[in-house]
Amino acid sequence: MANDPKTEAGGFSHRTIERNITLLGVLALVAVAIGGIVEIAPLFWIDSTIEKVEGVRPYTPLELAGRNIYMREGCYNCHSQMVRPFRDEVERYGHYSLAAESMYDHPFQWGSKRTGPDLARVGGRYSDGWHVQHLTDPRSVVPESIMPSYAFMATRPLSAGDMRDHLKALTHVGVPYTAEAVARANDDLKAQADPDADTTALKARYPKSQARDFDGDPRQLTEMDALVAYLQMLGTLVDFEAAAPQETAK
Ligand code: HEC
Repeated sequence: MANDPKTEAGGFSHRTIERNITLLGVLALVAVAIGGIVEIAPLFWIDSTIEKVEGVRPYTPLELAGRNIYMREGCYNCHSQMVRPFRDEVERYGHYSLAAESMYDHPFQWGSKRTGPDLARVGGRYSDGWHVQHLTDPRSVVPESIMPSYAFMATRPLSAGDMRDHLKALTHVGVPYTAEAVARANDDLKAQADPDADTTALKARYPKSQARDFDGDPRQLTEMDALVAYLQMLGTLVDFEAAAPQETAK
């Protein structure tokens, strides 16, 4: 008979292990520990789990201020910022999100709810004027919209606090702002939305940054300027078009 103890191969058989709870526990622990070491140990020796991608840079002070407003207003409750690698998403929003694209996000804004569309690639899709109109009165451009109105931002002056401290704090969690970028943070904040400012240094520090009056009112720097500046840069840093031909090249 197969399960007769006398006919078993004897010694260290399944039967022995399964009948000895202590032995089973110890061996299970050893098996799980091996699996754990294989998965966890390499993380102590590699610098980063994120592959570097050309074009990804830290946020400009103005974009960062806009991002803070985005979080303050809880836009993430209705909007995600991560295009998943599925065909329907890629056709609607564009190239799926890369880990590197949110590597300087503290905290990240991937989100788990889409009452509204994903915003990871919204930059450049609409004009500044459209954003201002939409944020002021969403139903004036999208009649069926259920998005709240944020009209107050157009007149509320931007009080972002001392951006030097903000950038400095981010350097502590690994965002590579240079000492110069930190020192110039408050000037950069103002220059990016001032049509008369010299933005050569800003653009050298932050490649692909867009500098102009974002809210249509050059007289004052408002929360609208910062939020629109942030929305207009989302997903614009990596040049996927330039990368595409390599994938299909023979
Ligand atoms: C109650 C949910 C809700 C909140 C909160 C919300 N939105 Fe929306 N949002 C929507 C919906 C729904 C749409 C789609 C209809 C429309 O375009 O208005 C939308 C559309 C958008 C669009 C256009 C996206 C596209 O690709 O057409 C932008 C940009 C946007 N929202 C930005 C924001 C920002 C910035 C905030 C925070 C200040 C915010 N939303 C807060 C629900 C919300």
